Amino acid sequence: MKGVPEALVLLSLVSVVTPGFQFRSRNASDASMSKPCALGEYTSRAQCTQSQYRLVCKDGLASYWMRGIKREITHLRLMNWPGECFNVARLQYHYPELVFLEFINSTSLKSFKGHFSAVNKIEKLIIHGLMSLWELPPEIVMDMPVLRELDLRGNMLRHIKSSLLTGPRSLEYVYLAGNSWDCSDGGLDWLAMEAENGTIRRKIKDYDELVCHQQLYRGKPLNKVMDIIRTMRQTCPEPCSCTMTHVVFDTAGAVIPLITVDCANRQLENPPSALPPGTTTLRLEGNKLSSIRAIVHNPQYKTLADLYLDNNSISAVKELEGTEWFSNFRVLSLRGNLLKQIPVYAFDKAFQYNNNIMHVFLGDNPWRCDCHYIPRFQSLLLKYKRVIRDLSDIRCSKSSDKKTSLVQISTIPLGNICGDDDVMPISPINIVNLVLLALILLVVGRFLYDWQNFKNTGELPWLSSILP
Ligand SMILES: *[C@@H]1O[C@H](CO)[C@@H](O)[C@H](O)[C@H]1NC(C)=O
Ligand SMILES: *[C@@H]1O[C@H](CO)[C@@H](O)[C@H](O)[C@H]1NC(C)=O
Ligand SMILES: *[C@@H]1O[C@H](CO)[C@@H](O)[C@H](O)[C@H]1NC(C)=O
Ligand SMILES: *[C@@H]1O[C@H](CO)[C@@H](O)[C@H](O)[C@H]1NC(C)=O
Repeated sequence: MKGVPEALVLLSLVSVVTPGFQFRSRNASDASMSKPCALGEYTSRAQCTQSQYRLVCKDGLASYWMRGIKREITHLRLMNWPGECFNVARLQYHYPELVFLEFINSTSLKSFKGHFSAVNKIEKLIIHGLMSLWELPPEIVMDMPVLRELDLRGNMLRHIKSSLLTGPRSLEYVYLAGNSWDCSDGGLDWLAMEAENGTIRRKIKDYDELVCHQQLYRGKPLNKVMDIIRTMRQTCPEPCSCTMTHVVFDTAGAVIPLITVDCANRQLENPPSALPPGTTTLRLEGNKLSSIRAIVHNPQYKTLADLYLDNNSISAVKELEGTEWFSNFRVLSLRGNLLKQIPVYAFDKAFQYNNNIMHVFLGDNPWRCDCHYIPRFQSLLLKYKRVIRDLSDIRCSKSSDKKTSLVQISTIPLGNICGDDDVMPISPINIVNLVLLALILLVVGRFLYDWQNFKNTGELPWLSSILP
């Protein structure tokens, strides 16, 4: 035991005579004297107790412990630090031999000033119960040459940078539980992209206990959320962007991600062929899609609930008919396409059996407006007006007919379209029907005539006279 303090004294002598270090720390001390965040601000209420190489101080550092250089102290615990800021560089100046440093239970302490320099000897740094500590910049610990253990449990940290863990070259044990990790804002993305057995991940000894605390992911296990973020990144189709909008637990307790894939305005002619597992929303607005075939028949799109296809060139949606997707979707937007008509019966059936359906948008399409189609289409619109959300934009295509051009279909009087002053369009099939009817009447009439004639005169009809 005797040899250790001697070695420490020797080492510290080396550090004292290292000119760069001393010069810098003096400069830092000059600066800190004139600015807030001086250690000496809190001496009046401070209580410090020493036992051998250990010093425990509450409510500040007593003035004795702020005077000169205390080489004898290797273990320092600071409890209930009253200030908002703590000057780490100054502490190192007064306590160059520290091996073990703890900051415990402070409600005010928010930030650290300066950084531990390359000559410090701290092996274990503990920061617990700092209820205002939201972040810990890596620069503070970056240069620490012998730091082996960094215990940051029970603070308010929301995110950390990877360099906090990769910087100190001897760091092996990191504890991060009990903080307010924000898994949503990108501050922990590097952790998601770390391989399962990556070197950083392995340093975090309580990785599996970490819990997300902010917003969407509140209460969700961080490791699960990170796995999902990684999978999402790796499977996000080019050139789209993917975001996790929510996570939920299923009945078995597994974490289910709800992912939005945004492919809007990407000049796409086809939808992406694969989606990240758990994609619930796909945005394909403003592309060049002409068909939805590739969407409704792709098993990858099964979990898709919300599909936005606004401003494409889709002219038909017959493919929806009878698909599983169509009886399960939640939102479908087909605004601004080239639809003239939809299979009304199939839509009616799907809407009736779909329990998830929330919104359908059909506006800004060049709808066909004739007596053949409009009565059915109008009654569909009215029947599902709580689902079809843009009735006022669902209008007849532009035409020279003033009665229909750009008129709102849900309120158009049917008389305007099927009015009797308009010539009823007579289709070829109807013409054939009329001709057939005339022929039937002719045959029946002739038969009646012949029969009557036979009864009266006994004369056989002309036809039988020429038959053999
Ligand atoms: C103190 O350090 C700052 C940079 O941190 C430097 O700009 C300044 O010149 C130094 N002051 C003295 C007196 O050396
Ligand atoms: C810090 O505060 C917590 C809860 O307030 C308490 O349980 C713990 O003992 C305190 N730690 C110390 C070292 O006083
Ligand atoms: C990580 O290590 C564990 C056991 O150490 C092993 O079971 C697992 O397959 C490894 N994972 C990867 C991705 O290498
Ligand atoms: C579709 O295009 C119209 C007109 O160019 C525009 O006003 C609208 O915002 C677009 N909709 C979407 C969802 O991009």
